[in-house]
Amino acid sequence: MDINLVDQDLYAREGAPHDRFAWLRANDPVHRHAGGGLGWPDFWAVTRHADVVQVSRRPDLFSSSRKLALFEEMPEEQREFQRMMMLNQDPPEHTRRRSLVNRGFTPRVIGALEQHIRDICHDLVDEARGRSSIDFVRDIAAPLPLYVICELLGAPVEDRDKLFTWSNQMIGAEDPDYAADPTEGRDAAAEVYAYANRLAAERREEPRDDIITKLLRPDDNGEVLDENEFDLFVLLLVVAGNETTRNAASGGMLGFFEHPEQWRRLVADRALAGTAADEIVRWVSPVNLFRRTATADTVIGEQEVKEGDKVVVFYTSANRDEDVFADPGVFDIGRTPNPHIGFGGGGAHFCLGNHLAKLELRVLFEVLAERLPNLAQAGPARRLRSNFINGIKELPATVS
Ligand code: HEM
Repeated sequence: MDINLVDQDLYAREGAPHDRFAWLRANDPVHRHAGGGLGWPDFWAVTRHADVVQVSRRPDLFSSSRKLALFEEMPEEQREFQRMMMLNQDPPEHTRRRSLVNRGFTPRVIGALEQHIRDICHDLVDEARGRSSIDFVRDIAAPLPLYVICELLGAPVEDRDKLFTWSNQMIGAEDPDYAADPTEGRDAAAEVYAYANRLAAERREEPRDDIITKLLRPDDNGEVLDENEFDLFVLLLVVAGNETTRNAASGGMLGFFEHPEQWRRLVADRALAGTAADEIVRWVSPVNLFRRTATADTVIGEQEVKEGDKVVVFYTSANRDEDVFADPGVFDIGRTPNPHIGFGGGGAHFCLGNHLAKLELRVLFEVLAERLPNLAQAGPARRLRSNFINGIKELPATVS
């Protein structure tokens, strides 16, 4: 079987290669993969749920900071920038930062945003109802997480468009519709970094009752994020909080279009929106992969790997693992239990925004099922050219 799991054009054309993932899980679950023409070194492609969990929970054996050697195509100063982000660090450096930002993302803090998120969803639906046809991505899926992040940051409404463009350029750096070339993505990151710096200066001058002001204050132990750490965290929030949730929402809607019986089920019983949110994250796996580096000779499943080897975990594959999910190829919005690992396989880097993302998805699909029950697909979905994010750029729909 022809195996290239990181071919950007393949993802743009047909989405994630589920047939190849299934074959690998059954025949070669920790597969020696060529660099894929991306300037990456060869790596181990980890495709089974249990193995992805194992790698994720052992940051001592599978490092997030040393994985940066995988970004060999990047200029050194860019790699330096990446190295400073929480996502690319290991304990104990990571632990300190993570505990400082955890304060802003507890279920209680996030739960308090529900009414605000509901208001945003109703506003977006009001606008959509004024038109006969919409692009679900542009009109619903993209603005929701963007407006929520702006709310977290306390960013003024007039800055939304700017943040929207920067976020597209960063994540879509490999897609000509979003960025003319990858340097645009890097420039956009520098803009967001500078923007965060200004925002923090304003909040220090004039504290407000927002999550960002909370994160600028010392914690109970007197620990505080320094200026650089804070700016990098905002940058991470804009990247991690926007595209992921956007593509969960649009991929979820596409899932409903392709499984109209599930949509009718939700419309008839909106209490299913909670389990639907999890099933959407499993089904779509908005984040396709993450990279690690082995810090010692060790074993993944039955495969020996050597110190320094590159390891890539594929959440998209793990989320369809037949050993864990009954009928993994079925989109079932009532699926319980649903031990998907769309937010990561557990351990130190488990998605900080998972409560927020699930809240946004639950409320969005409750509101859509209530107010736009006749939503229908009106043209083919156009997919993002990216092997990192399972993304949709355009999803035409009619509202009545
Ligand atoms: C980390 C997925 C939404 C913030 C991650 C990871 C994944 C992920 C797979 C890496 C886990 C690992 O390496 O073990 C998703 C998905 C989302 C989503 C599928 C939406 C459906 C969000 C939102 C935010 C967010 C809304 C913030 C507002 C973060 C941050 C990290 C992270 C800051 C890094 C955590 C760390 O390094 O400790 N996410 N995410 N994510 N996510 Fe999310």
